Amino acid sequence: MIVLERGPEPAKQTSSVAAGMLAPISETLATEVPLMRLGLASVQAYPGFVEELTGATGMDTGYLRCGTLLAARDGDEAEALSRELALRERFGLTVHRLRASEARRLEPALAPTLRLALDVPDDHAIDPRKLTAALAAAFTRVGGELRTSARVAEVVARGERVTGVRLAGTGEQLSAEHVVMAAGVWSEEVDGLADEARVPIHPVKGQILRLHDPSGPGLLTRVVRFTGGYLVPRGDGRYVLGATMEERGFDTSVTAGAVFELLRDAFELLPSVTELVIDELSAGLRPATPDNLPAIGPGARAGLHWAAGHFRHGILLTPITAQIALAGITGEDPGELAAQFAPSRFSGIPVAA
Ligand code: GLY
Repeated sequence: MIVLERGPEPAKQTSSVAAGMLAPISETLATEVPLMRLGLASVQAYPGFVEELTGATGMDTGYLRCGTLLAARDGDEAEALSRELALRERFGLTVHRLRASEARRLEPALAPTLRLALDVPDDHAIDPRKLTAALAAAFTRVGGELRTSARVAEVVARGERVTGVRLAGTGEQLSAEHVVMAAGVWSEEVDGLADEARVPIHPVKGQILRLHDPSGPGLLTRVVRFTGGYLVPRGDGRYVLGATMEERGFDTSVTAGAVFELLRDAFELLPSVTELVIDELSAGLRPATPDNLPAIGPGARAGLHWAAGHFRHGILLTPITAQIALAGITGEDPGELAAQFAPSRFSGIPVAA
């Protein structure tokens, strides 16, 4: 089996917009109930997934069962939060409405101007970089071969069946019974597929700041989300502040305006954000499909599977994506949730046997 990850050229690879929120309850919009169900299934799988990875590698994944607060700064935002609360209550999810004073008792760094907050105790976080390193180590320990600087030029087919990939540069051909397209926004640059056999994916830029508190952990223990952004604690004094949503093609420049707006919005809720030290500014590209839902499972060409288009939810959906993709490869039942995320919804072509 070959899994095409990121690419196509190492030089073109960008960091993703992966802050590591495992937050299906906080993040889901009223229009995204199937996505919420998929996210909930994935967070349920997370503890076992992390335990297995840590057991196999001895590596920490930065999994932090920290909970999340949704914060409102003014009357409009408070009203929007009340609607969000009602939606989650309809689904029997655990969300508590907190007065500003109650929220500030939980997180004293929140500004006195806070209007309202929702406590979502079951939405957590993980460190995507640590998770990725642990996954790579686990993969190689079981004999997987990881080629980190190879660019895939095209998928190769015999008749209607995909049989492998050809690498750029050397032209080396790698054969496989199954190929998984997990190349994010770069999927479109892998040749060898007709348009109707593809999942359309476009980039949505997100700028992000990585920060740390020189005085150590404790400023914030929960993820705090607000209109326009979020601040995610890593539990060790490091924080991620994100993220913009921009339609700018493959541009990954970091702009002063975006950094200003993210810091300004965070400052209104958490004034001490200005005391943090900036470690890194970056921009990543979220892989978005036309319906903003991921494409997971067998596609229109036999032998080619998709694990792509996860937009804002790649880290959250990692365990459930692996389960559904694997079921497609082994021919097992992927479960009733999987049907809504079938790649074939974009081609109209029935899934290949
Ligand atoms: N997953 C976080 C973001 O897309 O901003």
